[in-house]
Amino acid sequence: MTTYAIIGGTGLTELEGFALRETRQVETPFGLPSAEILRGDFAGREVLFLARHGHPHRIPPHRVNYRANLWALKSIGAQAIIAVNAVGGIHSAMGSGHFCVPDQLIDYTAGRAQTFFEDDLEHVTHIDFSFPYDPALREALVAALRAEGVSHSAAGVYGCTQGPRLETVAEIARMERDGCDIVGMTGMPEAALARELDLPYACLALVVNPAAGKSAGVITMAEIEAALAAGIGQARAVLARVLAGGL
Ligand code: HPA
Repeated sequence: MTTYAIIGGTGLTELEGFALRETRQVETPFGLPSAEILRGDFAGREVLFLARHGHPHRIPPHRVNYRANLWALKSIGAQAIIAVNAVGGIHSAMGSGHFCVPDQLIDYTAGRAQTFFEDDLEHVTHIDFSFPYDPALREALVAALRAEGVSHSAAGVYGCTQGPRLETVAEIARMERDGCDIVGMTGMPEAALARELDLPYACLALVVNPAAGKSAGVITMAEIEAALAAGIGQARAVLARVLAGGL
């Protein structure tokens, strides 16, 4: 059976229903991951869990050590990764509380350590990244969202910004012209690093606010927190259904 790792984003630093068996502090050639990795039982199987922003939530998106996170998960046995990400909605279908399983992404980040393939190389490596997310894992997430009766989109383009500030209205308008449906700050380089390590990877994105310019007012942390609180139970149910499904 595949060993899954869940990378929990904002609002998912703990996984209710997760029976902890072991906590591991894993050192990597890239430093320490965001938090100790938890190994335990969830939905009837062994699962690894890592809080992307640390536990408690304290590491901003541009400071997350994505290389250490992915390396550590692989080194202790992860064979596939489900990432949970809070995002802003750009497309009109992406209202607060809506889920999206993106099939494409555009990377707008800058200055993040984004590859394992740069030092001590015997040869230069370019991974294929035409389709950044694993199709089988995406399909399992979409089937679980459908079965849970949760409002969702089965595909979409995730635009990853640098943060930690939110975007301007003009930036979101440009991203919309580029074809982005949702905007977040943590999708990259995580997805590319997973591919470099040959780990199937998919993203369960929860819309927690309309992106800049997509609602009348400004974006508040209170609105984001309320949407997270409302949606995280559904995210958990979806994850449980995927894992119980036994891919
Ligand atoms: N922009 C970028 N990242 C986000 C947003 C947003 O509006 N909401 C949650 N994460």
